[in-house]
Order: sequence, then C-alpha cells, then structure tokens
Amino acid sequence: MSDPLVFVSGGSSGIGRAMIEALPWPGARVLNLSRRPAPASEHVAVDLASSSGWAQAATCFERELAGFSGELAVFVHAAGTLTPICFAGDGDADAYRRNVLLNSAAPQLLGDAFLRALAGSSARGWLLFIGSGASSGIYEGWSGYSAGKAATDHWVRTVGAEQTARSGRCQIVCIAPGVVATPMQEEIRATPAEHFPQRERFEALHSEGHLRAPADVARELWAVRERPIANGAVLDLREP
Ligand SMILES: NC(=O)c1ccc[n+]([C@@H]2O[C@H](COP(=O)([O-])OP(=O)(O)OC[C@H]3O[C@@H](n4cnc5c(N)ncnc54)[C@H](OP(=O)(O)O)[C@@H]3O)[C@@H](O)[C@H]2O)c1
Repeated sequence: MSDPLVFVSGGSSGIGRAMIEALPWPGARVLNLSRRPAPASEHVAVDLASSSGWAQAATCFERELAGFSGELAVFVHAAGTLTPICFAGDGDADAYRRNVLLNSAAPQLLGDAFLRALAGSSARGWLLFIGSGASSGIYEGWSGYSAGKAATDHWVRTVGAEQTARSGRCQIVCIAPGVVATPMQEEIRATPAEHFPQRERFEALHSEGHLRAPADVARELWAVRERPIANGAVLDLREP
C-alpha cells in the first residue's frame, strides 16, 4: 500500500504530538493543523476557535486531497481545550466563547470538511476524534469542554451510521484516552479548587503515578485501526 496522507489537528502538543511521533507509516506526509508547529510535520497555522481557521482547514483538506492518488487519508482531530476552567457564568466571556467554538463547533465542521474533501479523491478515510469520559461524567468547571465532547460523540455515532448506510469510504471513530500526562493535565492541577472542585482527585492520580504516557496512548490509538469495529463507534481505551 502507498503511504497515507495524514492530517493531525493539535499536533503541537500532548496526544496529537505523540500521534505524529508514533505514526505507523514512517514515510507518510503529515500536516499539523494548530497554532504552533510540531516536529516531523508540515505546519498549517490555524486557530480552530475561529471561523477563518475552519475555512483554512477546509481549504487545506480540499487542496491536498484533490491531488492525492494514495489509498488512505487519515485525519486525527486532537485539538481541544479546557480553558477557562471555571463555573459557567464566572469566567471571561471571550475565553468561554473560544472554548465552545473549539470543542463543540470545530470537530463537526472539520469532520464535515474532511468528508467533503475525501469525496474529491478515490482514497478511503480514517477519521479519529479524541474523546473524553467528560462527555458523560459531571466535572464542575468543565461545562464547555464536556458539552463539546458529548456533541462530538453523537456526531460520530450519527455520521458513522450515515457512512454505513451509503457504504461510505470513511471509518469514523471517537476514542477516550484515559488520563494522560500532557499540558492539559498540568492546567487542571494548577486550577484553584474553587474553580475545579475535583482538582484533588487529579492531583492524586498524578502523584500516585496513574497518568498514562502520551506515547503509549498514541500507540494504542493507532492500533484501533486494526480492530473490526462498527463505523461510528465511541470507545474508551480503558475498556477492553
Ligand atoms: N490529557 C488528557 O488527560 C486527556 C483526556 C481525555 C481527552 N483528552 C483530549 O485529547 C486531546 C489532546 O489534549 P492534550 O491533553 O494533548 O492537550 P494539550 O497538550 O493541551 O494539547 C492541545 C492541543 O490542542 C491545540 N489547540 C488548542 N487550542 C487550539 C486552537 N484554538 N486552534 C488550534 N489548535 C488548538 C493545541 O495547539 P496550539 O496551542 O499550537 O494551537 C495543542 O496542540 C484533546 O481533545 C483533549 O480533550 C485529553
């Protein structure tokens, strides 16, 4: 098989960066869509909390897939944010708006754009979203983030069913990775308990060595491609 074309959003840090480092195809071309660059990838500088960033990402998918003659195109959507961690109504309104746009709107709009662009090539697609247990659990202080993860889970279920209904060429999956040692976890531990009452639990997970290494998580996420799963599956790496 020829090397796939790989897009990763949020490739500049944490899980997205580890996905690039653990890429199963050493020769593949990788494009990182985020504000900061990442090693071993081409940088598409985009702010995915803005409509201009969504348009830039859509143009990038279209341009790259129109000229792509390989068999597989992959998009890993890892960009996400907890900022601002605080109760709804307490924080900075602009930061809250950016949280909602990045966590709720960007996954759906970029997923739609990737499928649209894929239709312009003959490649199969693999579209992975990084989910979270927060999509169903209650974490006071994470309202915009949790609602975005819940929306993404259901978008994946629905669009996976649409692909199945039309024998579509794209496999869509959302996978929660567990608690992973990234800057996002550092932000949690640095938040006053007043804004995030469950902080102590996350501090204990960290001090007791329960955070997962991004490299291990990335290897497991890539390995899901080999599993026979339903299109639109919403999985958790902690469950067999
Ligand atoms: N760490 C965990 O325990 C955990 C658990 C469950 C789910 N997750 C999920 O895993 C994914 C990755 O999180 P992480 O832990 O690796 O966090 P991280 O290290 O903070 O990385 C977040 C990534 O998102 C990108 N991003 C943030 N705002 C952006 C914006 N406005 N436009 C474009 N890109 C933006 C960042 O890139 P730039 O700053 O360069 O733009 C960065 O690459 C997220 O979806 C998160 O919800 C993480």
